Amino acid sequence: MADNKPLKAKFISLEGGEGAGKSTQIRLLADWLSSQGIPSICTREPGGSDGAELIRDLLVKGAVDRWTPITEALLMTAARTEHIARTIKPALATDKWVLCDRFFDSSIAYQGAGRALGTRYIKDMQTLAFDAFKPDLTLILDLPVKIGLARAKSRENAKTDSEDRFERLDLSFHETLRAAYLAIASDEPERCKVVKADQTVDSIQTTIRQIVKQKFNLPND
Ligand SMILES: Nc1ncnc2c1ncn2[C@@H]1O[C@H](COP(=O)(O)OP(=O)(O)OP(=O)(O)O)[C@@H](O)[C@H]1O
Ligand SMILES: [Mg+2]
Repeated sequence: MADNKPLKAKFISLEGGEGAGKSTQIRLLADWLSSQGIPSICTREPGGSDGAELIRDLLVKGAVDRWTPITEALLMTAARTEHIARTIKPALATDKWVLCDRFFDSSIAYQGAGRALGTRYIKDMQTLAFDAFKPDLTLILDLPVKIGLARAKSRENAKTDSEDRFERLDLSFHETLRAAYLAIASDEPERCKVVKADQTVDSIQTTIRQIVKQKFNLPND
């Protein structure tokens, strides 16, 4: 980096519906940060630590209605609490940037809006569990629901992957999620930036890098 001063490690989350391109973009962002001399870890939710990955299995597999909405929200929050304590905070404390594939906005979208528990309920639950811990920047990948679901289905591992509990919900559920993410972005415009995701992988990544550079005052490469 230009002045060789270590920049305080940042926490960036990527959000958006199924197949929006989160996992694709996070890898490219990590590669670019590394080329800028910035070490990072990529992690994901639900999961991201040993215990949270165990809870992940309960959440992403099996019957769509296997949990009541409240249990689903509690399991997500339990997994996130582990993830923050065991993976995210230790990485930030050792100057690694954290790039997280989904974080608490997913709970607001999926359990708050999709499962109709309400934003306030989810926010209160999360505040009880881990206080006001938030990403420094959240990139919300937005694209028409049908395109995202088609992309998710065409993924290489889509046929063998049993992690499709949310993907199997109907179109209106996914439309609700999309609207919820856009509402989060308009509520918190400083933290959240919407990125149009119906573009090529490269052009989305270019936009993401510009946002990250601007937000954290990184030099132009
Ligand atoms: N901009 C793009 N244009 C076309 N295809 C894309 C684009 N970005 C990603 N894909 C493809 O779409 C599929 C889903 O992408 P990816 O796994 O990155 O999405 P995701 O948001 O992580 O999905 P999920 O929520 O299901 O984990 C992959 O096969 C990927 O190669
Ligand atoms: Mg993914």
